[in-house]
Amino acid sequence: MSHLMSLSNLLIGLLGLIVLTHVVQACQFHELPYPIDYAAMAAANNAAHARGHSPQCDKTVIHNVRVFDGEILLPPDVVIIEDGVIVDDPTGAQQFVDAEGGVLLPGLIDGHAHPSNVTHLEDLTRFGVTTTMTMACFNPDLCRSLQGHTGLTDIKLSSAPAAAPGSVHGYITSAVDKTGLLLVNSTEQASSWMQRQVAWNPDYIKLIAEFPGLSTETLDALSSEARKYGKKTVLHAAAKASWQQAIDSHVDYIHHTPSDVSIDESQAMKVLEQRQVSTPTLSIMKASANKDPSRNYTAASETVHLLHCKGVPIIAGTDANLQPGLVAEVPFGISMHQEMELLVEAGLSNVEALRAATYTPAMIWGLEDRGVIALGKRADLLLVDGDPIQDIKATRNIKKIWVNGLEFTEPLGTF
Ligand SMILES: *[C@@H]1O[C@H](CO)[C@@H](O)[C@H](O)[C@H]1NC(C)=O
Ligand SMILES: *[C@@H]1O[C@H](CO)[C@@H](O)[C@H](O)[C@H]1NC(C)=O
Ligand SMILES: *[C@@H]1O[C@H](CO)[C@@H](O)[C@H](O)[C@H]1NC(C)=O
Ligand SMILES: [Zn+2]
Repeated sequence: MSHLMSLSNLLIGLLGLIVLTHVVQACQFHELPYPIDYAAMAAANNAAHARGHSPQCDKTVIHNVRVFDGEILLPPDVVIIEDGVIVDDPTGAQQFVDAEGGVLLPGLIDGHAHPSNVTHLEDLTRFGVTTTMTMACFNPDLCRSLQGHTGLTDIKLSSAPAAAPGSVHGYITSAVDKTGLLLVNSTEQASSWMQRQVAWNPDYIKLIAEFPGLSTETLDALSSEARKYGKKTVLHAAAKASWQQAIDSHVDYIHHTPSDVSIDESQAMKVLEQRQVSTPTLSIMKASANKDPSRNYTAASETVHLLHCKGVPIIAGTDANLQPGLVAEVPFGISMHQEMELLVEAGLSNVEALRAATYTPAMIWGLEDRGVIALGKRADLLLVDGDPIQDIKATRNIKKIWVNGLEFTEPLGTF
């Protein structure tokens, strides 16, 4: 069973990665055992719900703390947590934390990751990632089993990734799902595909652009269908031509960046005009380029530079996954700190990189209860030493983490 489970993990992680690649050949997927035991994986995750994490419901006062307000560090002050949110009345507080002048950041939001078990959730959390947007859900029960783990990162769920039969992503889908109902091959199939996905109520819809793959017309039909149901669309686009499909199909969010050549000026302007948003996932672009020199990291980072100059909103996301032998592994949690550094290298200021990991995704994704440290917001908090506005690497000096008001008491992430 553990063998099966690790294969399942592998397939879950495949999603975002494969895109980038011409390396993974479809025939590799013909050898996999079927069916994947999603039920066992979900059961293991659900058993961890029962175990729970020690709840600490004390009203907590953090004093001598400098709050990052999204722009600057405020002078040392107090932050009070009660019932999972930030409040202003310290009366009756049972717990007092001296932050010693440390900096309090909103919990980080990883805008693109592939956790499949509780270890992955713990790793995300120990590095201060308190919200995780997962990006490929083949099996709703497994995906839901990642949600609601008290004291661990909050998980949002994507649909199954819409991929065409005969495409690299389509082969992955066929390997994990024998019904064929997760594949889509034409504009005519867009409506029924979308109905099947929205039926289980994923938070957003994932679409795949690749060559060979879905036509622009089909992507356009899928994005229109999603809009009918009030669902946002995320398009996997890891080549310049895929970005053109993103523009022409009017998807909401564009994930990854080209690993062939950078997008051009006019494409960047279109993305801006259409109010599309980029989650470049530089961590995996870099990791995959390190493994395979035919992938062009310069194209990825120049694309970010161009988008940022035009004013396109940028969200930090890592494509974290632990799948040996695939495009590239990106560890959970720790990679968010690297992602912020890569965004800075690509031209964002330190403040902009911090916002890309907190305020911006919360605003763009409509997560109104988080992303800033303010009265009434979720107490998702990351306390660090040093000043990340001066040095983005200061986010690595993790002192304490709270998730929805509960302090994370397991070992904190170290670098
Ligand atoms: C989760 O998967 C990782 C491999 O990515 C494995 O090392 C770990 O033991 C798994 N955790 C659980 C609780 O199954
Ligand atoms: C998918 O669509 C293409 C183009 O219309 C067609 O050639 C192909 O046979 C279709 N494949 C399947 C499996 O429906
Ligand atoms: C890599 O991308 C950069 C930026 O688009 C481009 O100038 C360069 O020619 C590309 N390199 C290769 C080998 O394609
Ligand atoms: Zn991905």
